[in-house]
Amino acid sequence: MTESSTTYDSTAREIAPATGKLGILMPGMGAVASTFMAGVIAARNGLGAPIGSVAQMAHIRLGNKAENRNPLIKDFVPLAGLDDIVFGGWDPISPNAFEAAKTAGVLEGADLSSISGELEGIVAMDAVFEPRWVSRLDGTRIKELTSKMEQAEALMNDIERFREQNGCDRVVMVWCGSTEAYQEPSEVHATLADFEAGLKADDDNISPSQIYAYAALMSDVPFANGAPNLSVDLECMQELAIQRGLPIVGKDFKTGQTLMKTLIAPGLKARMLGLRGWYSTNILGNRDGEVLDDPENFKTKESSKLGVLDTILQPETYPDLYGNIDHVVRINYYPPRGDNKEGWDAIDIFGWLGYPMQIKVDFLCRDSILAAPIVLDLALFMDLAHRAGSSGVQEWLSFYLKAPQTADGAEPEHDLFIQQTKLKNTLREWMGEQPVTHSEAG
Ligand SMILES: NC(=O)c1ccc[n+]([C@@H]2O[C@H](COP(=O)([O-])OP(=O)(O)OC[C@H]3O[C@@H](n4cnc5c(N)ncnc54)[C@H](O)[C@@H]3O)[C@@H](O)[C@H]2O)c1
Repeated sequence: MTESSTTYDSTAREIAPATGKLGILMPGMGAVASTFMAGVIAARNGLGAPIGSVAQMAHIRLGNKAENRNPLIKDFVPLAGLDDIVFGGWDPISPNAFEAAKTAGVLEGADLSSISGELEGIVAMDAVFEPRWVSRLDGTRIKELTSKMEQAEALMNDIERFREQNGCDRVVMVWCGSTEAYQEPSEVHATLADFEAGLKADDDNISPSQIYAYAALMSDVPFANGAPNLSVDLECMQELAIQRGLPIVGKDFKTGQTLMKTLIAPGLKARMLGLRGWYSTNILGNRDGEVLDDPENFKTKESSKLGVLDTILQPETYPDLYGNIDHVVRINYYPPRGDNKEGWDAIDIFGWLGYPMQIKVDFLCRDSILAAPIVLDLALFMDLAHRAGSSGVQEWLSFYLKAPQTADGAEPEHDLFIQQTKLKNTLREWMGEQPVTHSEAG
């Protein structure tokens, strides 16, 4: 072993092996969740590859370049295997994963037909649902319990039953439910004691996603939030996660337009090119688009989407280049497009002597095709973090999120490449390997 590949024992963690079954529970069995489940089932039947999953497809360099050690991440860290995953979830509308996939219309009939039986077997449990948080949806498969504490207890019972029936060693939860209406944290979210008192008193400020998050953490289940609404990014949830030694991750899957933004903006900044404005607009026609057509639900999404540019471009450090930016984000519900979103970006930049230039991006993406691998990676990495004894906010998973949570309330990192370095270096360190700095020496 060369000197530079000395192991970093001080950062190495004892990681329990990934034995037995891993349950992945999803509140919200819609387009993203059904595409995710169908993709994993297809991959384990040899019908397709899990493209977009860093945990499954990416290699990781170890030690000095000259050492030529470059294993797949899944061979380097002890992750649960795809064959060991069991799925479950809740939904107020979709009866099972097959019906959800057919309604979503993301995957073609031919791709679904050979796995339809397995998908049909994933039956949605009755949801904790309150129409005021998602006014565009009319849910019928809901728990007929008015008390929020009783709803939380019913979810904990569901989790326990799922764990037992499927013989799961470990369970993780990823919120794939609709974006809830905009909300600021209130007094009921301050401490765990306040939150529990609020559950008992049916406090209006407690939304369904928060009840799921509470039930998950109380059941020793790590929780990730794929939508922009408030859930584990609340003081009370962080307190509970730390108390119970559980990883939490939030929020809002970084797909489509924001993924592009966090690819392009760091490049402009790296070359010290100025930015005057960034106009982003989208059309999409799926159920998510319909929910986001409501101004209160869009407001939740907007604040998550708007945050990325400021932290990447640091206008306070570079006022001449980034001190005067108009950043506008729009989403329009347009049914003919279904899940195949079209996102346009009109980017006004300037260069040498202030001369203006323009960049136009027209991304014809498939939202759920981009989100599905993120669900897989978050589930596998949260499970890893749990077995590695890492609790609270997992900043190293910011890579996957539009509005990453930070443990100390500091500004999150949005630059995709810095996020990727952080993710890979965290894995290296946990496994007792040296972080890679990409310096001339390394
Ligand atoms: N697809 C993407 O690229 C992407 C990116 C970032 C975030 N998201 C977010 O992920 C979430 C899922 O997206 P989608 O395209 O699958 O939407 P979708 O509308 O197809 O699915 C959401 C499902 O959640 C269900 N639901 C609503 N409230 C619920 C509750 N209280 N309990 C259980 N289920 C509930 C709905 O009935 C629906 O079936 C949305 O919040 C979306 O904003 C998606």
